[in-house]
Amino acid sequence: MPLIECRRLTKAYRKGDSTITPLHELDLDVDAGDFLALMGPSGSGKTTLLNLIAGIDSPTGGRLSIGGVDIASLSRSRLADWRSNNIGYVFQLYNLVPVLTAYENVELPLLLHRLSRRERHDRVQTALQLVGIADRHDHFPRQLSGGQEQRVAIARAIVTDPKIIVADEPTGDLDAESAAAIMALLTRLNRELDKTLILVTHDAKSAAYARRALHLEKGRLVEAQELAEMRAIEADRSLSGRENARQGVPG
Ligand SMILES: Nc1ncnc2c1ncn2[C@@H]1O[C@H](COP(=O)(O)OP(=O)(O)OP(=O)(O)O)[C@@H](O)[C@H]1O
Ligand SMILES: [Mg+2]
Repeated sequence: MPLIECRRLTKAYRKGDSTITPLHELDLDVDAGDFLALMGPSGSGKTTLLNLIAGIDSPTGGRLSIGGVDIASLSRSRLADWRSNNIGYVFQLYNLVPVLTAYENVELPLLLHRLSRRERHDRVQTALQLVGIADRHDHFPRQLSGGQEQRVAIARAIVTDPKIIVADEPTGDLDAESAAAIMALLTRLNRELDKTLILVTHDAKSAAYARRALHLEKGRLVEAQELAEMRAIEADRSLSGRENARQGVPG
């Protein structure tokens, strides 16, 4: 059984009289230990899908089951518990708390868990070491480079030892070298620590680290091969449309 199962998953937002439906009856299976890259044009619903999987937002239709749990059926407080045990979220813009040090930022999610100070300390140290930033533990976010801030954000996402890590364009703001280092780190989390990883990215280079890539395209999930075929058919259509127009054939 897949770890994450989306069946006819739908998310619609109502704004005034109009409704936007970024996700329409989406089917997706993600196995434990998978590393999935999610690509697609701006506004195609990538962040929306991550937020549903992370239990930050709730679907308006269909079913989403994670580890056998139908997360839409959980009460608010159960869902908060579930999230803090199962999900690590890495945001594009790091979202570190500016008045807290690197150490304190990483410690934050642990405050929701019943742990002694000592246990918390050990976990934070382990996470900081794992991402290679233990020597900057007492720096504030403004005293870190972008790549270092993202490492701290990743440490914060893994400190609770979640099964699933979702990352929303984690390299979108970084130079090529820092981006490659972050991707190598995320790949290690998947390969060595067995984290199930869903990565949203616009960048084919980053997507190449994943075990597989899917594209969100007009509310559907398609594989790269299928996407290439869809684009070829569209190009073909518009070409023959133009050709017909040139020859006076009604389109
Ligand atoms: N809270 C909301 N209320 C209303 N509409 C929303 C809300 N959140 C997202 N949307 C709309 O849903 C659509 C999908 O948004 P989403 O953020 O998932 O796109 P995305 O694929 O992550 O795009 P990008 O690559 O630019 O980050 C957009 O049209 C957006 O305007
Ligand atoms: Mg987005």
